[in-house]
Amino acid sequence: MDLASFAPHGLYVPPPVLEAAAHVSGMAAYRKLVAQAQADYGGYWAGIARDVVAWRTPFSKSLDESEAPFYKWFADGTLNVSWNCLDRHVQAGRGARTAIVFESDAGTVTRVSYRDLLARTCRLANALKARGVRRGDRVVIYLPMSIEGVVAMQACARIGATHSVVFGGFSAHSLRDRIEGAGAVMVITADEQVRGGRHLPLKAIVDEALALGGCDSVRDVIVYRRTGAAVAWNPARDRWLHDECAVQPDSCEPEWVGAEHPLFLLYTSGSTGKPKGVQHSSGGYLVFAAVTMKWTFDLKDDDVFWCTADIGWITGHSYIAYGPLALGATQVMFEGVPTYPDAGRFWQMIQRHGVTIFYTAPTVIRSLLKAAEADAAIHPDRYDLASLRILGSVGEPINPAAWEWYHRNVGGGRCPIVDTFWQTETGGHMITPLPGATPLVPGSCTLPFPGIEAAVVDEAGNDVPNGQGGILVVKKPWPGMIRTIWGDPERYRASYFPPELRGFYLAGDGAIRDAGTGYFTITGRIDDVLNVSGHRLGTMEIESALVSCTELVAEAAVVGRPDDTTGEAICAFVVLKGSRPMGEEARQIANTLRNWVAREIGPIAKPKDVRFGDNLPKTRSGKIMRRLLRSVAAGQAITQDISTLENPAVLQQLAEKI
Ligand code: WTA
Repeated sequence: MDLASFAPHGLYVPPPVLEAAAHVSGMAAYRKLVAQAQADYGGYWAGIARDVVAWRTPFSKSLDESEAPFYKWFADGTLNVSWNCLDRHVQAGRGARTAIVFESDAGTVTRVSYRDLLARTCRLANALKARGVRRGDRVVIYLPMSIEGVVAMQACARIGATHSVVFGGFSAHSLRDRIEGAGAVMVITADEQVRGGRHLPLKAIVDEALALGGCDSVRDVIVYRRTGAAVAWNPARDRWLHDECAVQPDSCEPEWVGAEHPLFLLYTSGSTGKPKGVQHSSGGYLVFAAVTMKWTFDLKDDDVFWCTADIGWITGHSYIAYGPLALGATQVMFEGVPTYPDAGRFWQMIQRHGVTIFYTAPTVIRSLLKAAEADAAIHPDRYDLASLRILGSVGEPINPAAWEWYHRNVGGGRCPIVDTFWQTETGGHMITPLPGATPLVPGSCTLPFPGIEAAVVDEAGNDVPNGQGGILVVKKPWPGMIRTIWGDPERYRASYFPPELRGFYLAGDGAIRDAGTGYFTITGRIDDVLNVSGHRLGTMEIESALVSCTELVAEAAVVGRPDDTTGEAICAFVVLKGSRPMGEEARQIANTLRNWVAREIGPIAKPKDVRFGDNLPKTRSGKIMRRLLRSVAAGQAITQDISTLENPAVLQQLAEKI
């Protein structure tokens, strides 16, 4: 591998001590795994599946392609995910080991052992059964970052119920859509969520969502008392979690399910229409979450792992609720935000808990970098971060400057950074360095996880030469992959396996491989999906939210523009029903529309810029010219051919900032 030619920002080889002891030690070991997978794909994954998961009844076959692209993995094997994550460790004499070190927003630390976590999971599992939740039923979880959140997910897994976690930042409307979409029989929520000293009324949002209608499937709402705030109460429907659990025994026979049994749905944004319910399996998903946890983070017995993601996102599923627990790890879980009480909170927590593996998002790094530069008192160099040995990044491309800062100031120059590329749909890491093997290049997610056949192709599915950009695909199914879109198998096929790509999985991102090393760099989404602070949003969703403000809005188009901190920022171009507003009026209407979107979707979807025009730029056939709008949003000179544009004068209007 010629790495010298490919290191514009330097090249980082694994520290020898780390490499020597790593699960995957050195590039030769990496290549050996890749070769094994190539030689015997089914056998390779079967070996991993037997290593990282305990099966109730063994599977006889790894991959079943008979109904492609509806692939099945380990299909005749049975297991229980919660048994794997909890009982297995207790039975192996590791029950006293700390599973979760939970730190509240205000800084209170609670430790829960594997034995305790199992008991709490069983009590809730029994309570769910007592309320009539059965195998295959869907349960929506709308909880803050909490031990209860993990317990709720594990309790569903224990009884074979399929959970659908909804991020606590989503609005009542979004929550309603997800409850309705899943046909949930139960919602598990909390009185309030506490973040950065602010209280958010989760239970009230659930009440509002259910009142919007369409949620008749919901029989019970279970409420975790987080703050003790007063909440409205519907005695026919609402129950306190502590009351429900108090009367239940702390053991519960797990429901043994087939490997393909749906463990969870997780709604995520696509390029068209409403968010889609990504359906994951039990067996293949757990195998993939566990093996990526083990190899990408080189997880060892004495590690203290901390993933800062929320359990409402896939990262919190695979690398908080399932991956670490499947391997019996000790992990830190945090309720709050990185900037409260100050932007040194994360560094302080790493020091306090002796975190050895730290996994966060580029947007967090960029904002803490800025804060540290502005205030030396919260600079990472003021804290003792010597416990760290591996750093991780996820959710969006990490720019080399942020990478270098993270490496030097947080990792003390000695910790490899694993820049993990993956998606809600992939279940776990797809393209990532392995810390004891892969030489690192800032800004590149380097090489596929062993066994993953990632490639860059053209629009007909042909490989493009390295050095030339193209479409990122995965050529073979893998155990952790999405199984279908809940209730919409045709959308699954159309979104991920378009006919022109010959059965390859379409990730929706562009990528380029380095001419020398073959290293991958992700160049961003090729569809209408935005990535704002690592949160995935569809432009269509935001447009629909805007035009649903029928009193004001005639037409709207939403695009992303680059932003130094959030990666991308949302820019909305709006045509009002009345005349184009100016000055103070424009400012007021823009704010009204921002708040409208926050109510419809959630605060994360608020457009940063709102621009008004008499019209939107359209081709003569009436199509909105989005590429053009992207240039306008970014403040770039227009280089596109605008000769076919119906109304070129509006470009001037739309370029004006409010
Ligand atoms: C982007 C998050 C570059 C990408 C786990 C992908 C990344 C989308 C990276 C999925 C990375 C995620 N480098 N881009 N390391 N990780 N992405 O479903 O555009 O919330 O398609 O899953 O985030 O976002 P999702």
